[in-house]
Amino acid sequence: MKKTTPQSLSVWRPLNLDRFLLGVPHYPEHVEESYWDRDAMRMAEAGFNAVRMGEFAWHIWEPYQGHFDFDLFDRAIEGLARHGIKTILCTPTATPPRWLSEAHPEILRVDMSGRVASHGSRQHGDTTSPVLRDHSRRITAAMAAHYASNPNVIGWQTDNELNTTTSLSFSKSCEVEFRKWCHLKYGTIEKLNEAWGGHFWATHYDNFDQVVLPIENNPSYVSPGHRQDYHRFLAHATAMFQRDQVEILRKTNPDWFVFHNLGQLEDIDFRSDFGQDLDFIGFDIYPMLYDEFRRNGGHAYSQALHLDICRSYSGNFIVPEQASGLGSQPAFSTMTPEPGEMRRMALTSVARGADGLMFFRWRPAHFGAEIYWMGILDHDDQPRRRYAEAKRFASDIKAIEQDLLGTSVRIDVGIAGADFDNQEAYRTYPMGLPSPAEDAVHLHRALYRRNIAAGFVHPEDDLSRLKALYVPHWLMWDEKWTENIRAFVEGGGKLIVSAMTGTRTRDNHILRELAPGMGLGDLLGVRVEEFGRVAAPGSDGLFGTHPKGAGFGPSGDVPAPACSAHRSYHIQYGNHTFQAAHLYEKLVLEDGVDVVATWADRWIEGEAVLTGRQVGKGSAHYLGTYLTETLAEHMVENLLSPAGIHPILPDLPADLEVTERTGPDGRRLIFVLNPTSKTVEINLDGQFKDLLSGEIPQGPMEIQGYDALVLRAD
Ligand code: GAL
Repeated sequence: MKKTTPQSLSVWRPLNLDRFLLGVPHYPEHVEESYWDRDAMRMAEAGFNAVRMGEFAWHIWEPYQGHFDFDLFDRAIEGLARHGIKTILCTPTATPPRWLSEAHPEILRVDMSGRVASHGSRQHGDTTSPVLRDHSRRITAAMAAHYASNPNVIGWQTDNELNTTTSLSFSKSCEVEFRKWCHLKYGTIEKLNEAWGGHFWATHYDNFDQVVLPIENNPSYVSPGHRQDYHRFLAHATAMFQRDQVEILRKTNPDWFVFHNLGQLEDIDFRSDFGQDLDFIGFDIYPMLYDEFRRNGGHAYSQALHLDICRSYSGNFIVPEQASGLGSQPAFSTMTPEPGEMRRMALTSVARGADGLMFFRWRPAHFGAEIYWMGILDHDDQPRRRYAEAKRFASDIKAIEQDLLGTSVRIDVGIAGADFDNQEAYRTYPMGLPSPAEDAVHLHRALYRRNIAAGFVHPEDDLSRLKALYVPHWLMWDEKWTENIRAFVEGGGKLIVSAMTGTRTRDNHILRELAPGMGLGDLLGVRVEEFGRVAAPGSDGLFGTHPKGAGFGPSGDVPAPACSAHRSYHIQYGNHTFQAAHLYEKLVLEDGVDVVATWADRWIEGEAVLTGRQVGKGSAHYLGTYLTETLAEHMVENLLSPAGIHPILPDLPADLEVTERTGPDGRRLIFVLNPTSKTVEINLDGQFKDLLSGEIPQGPMEIQGYDALVLRAD
């Protein structure tokens, strides 16, 4: 395995490894040693090249403070290597052992109600705690030194899914560290008071030692500036906790690659220190879980959405854990992938940017809090359909690997995503409005249905690779982004900026002039004079959750004002009239700005809701409301299609999912996936070779349920 220097972080960055990493997270400590050789043999037969180990085994690596024991893992690594399987090790800091939590209870997280985390599960350690950081450095240094010249250890994962169980902490040490962070950031307490708005509700501080952690709704709301800084601090603390480990690993052996596996994506700012410190990022993908919990419209779409979001943080990635079977913890269980579906989910990950993938997990545990989280093997140690599918996926990868590596995912329509400050700015004051991601999903799904190449990008990315860019209400905007998007529009791009964008400063203060600010208003030729709520279909007219809700009604909800339900507004777009949702903005247009769609009724009837103006070779549009499914569909048909934005392959049945990965040498790989259980008929014209079958499909053909083609098209 060779590692090259990573390119700088961008949505189109390929991985810096010369092989596709393929294997499983593996827990040799969960079974008797008599299993181990057969395990390694079966992995090799399946076509795997790596396992990931050790993330929850601190108590084995260091059974008591200062006493290290590498025996068990040395033997496991050696045994796997005999069958050609390399090892990725993890720093085991997601599970501080009992001797540590007993000797230093101050390392435990404390929740918003003051409850101290108890020992007995995982992620009980508070990553803001300097004491935990000391121990994290100690265990990392010991492990790194021990494996420094072991050729079978090829790379490292830091911790495990940082911040997934919870990202918050309200411990004493967190408070102390937060105060230090504030002091460093502001220098003087006057500056902090100004940023947080100390004259509002007398939230003014006399010195940094008085600064408190923001406890929401206790008894009422905290300032948006205060809340934003707390989350910036948590993200910084998480990045520094990881940096301690990365620095030790890199110093010990610069040939190791280092990554982290992300789960819930809370309080992690990928684009800054956290992502910059790593070779690449890993994302754990559990499509059936998203379906259960997020109800985004089917797990195939949820997976595609999740992967597109992940890619926006740093480009191509690996999937260190991908669901293989039924998943469960004591309180829930997911649907089970049907035969063929595990392979299809893995190919979807590759189609959307994965350059490595591990199936979670080699075998299910027989004890602990995940006894029904299935693996590649079954509880009786037998390989059955999941093993066969993993093996088939390994042969798929073998067939495409040479063409695949070095390519990145094509994006024609970019959606601004992946900005930590904007995500948090929204959360400081949501008002019952959709988040930028919730809004963007309407457009993303409309593009997904049509198999138009889409993805999430950042205004700092190389926008010249896009045909269109949609910015969903990013409250905080930066002058330098305006320059980048202006160049994009002048060069021929289509820009659509939506409501509320560029309305707040970095401190969450509202601008003192009409929005959008930071140069955006000049580019778009639009100013927002007024905004207000619009009753969404089915809404009761109350937006968000009232903190005093408890006690107001039988369910604790505040009764809706009777008149609000009738306040529905409609949009007139071409010959179509349809209901708007969430928000209206009353726009003032500069001369020469065209009205593309208008408000259809009420007091704002006839005024612009969607505008457009020619700028250089492209056009800049402003949308004075939030997306609905219908509005997104209309925009794709009436704004994007006429601008030459079309599906990757024409005339394919709607059931199929199509993406494209392109290489710097003009190489094109088109993934055609059937995420349904039904056979779908297609007709290809003999232009492309299917790398999976080695054939050149011509004329009518069938793609079986959950099957796929990978077409080489150049
Ligand atoms: C992941 C986690 C694994 C395992 C898996 C299944 O989030 O990293 O350790 O818990 O989920 O629940």
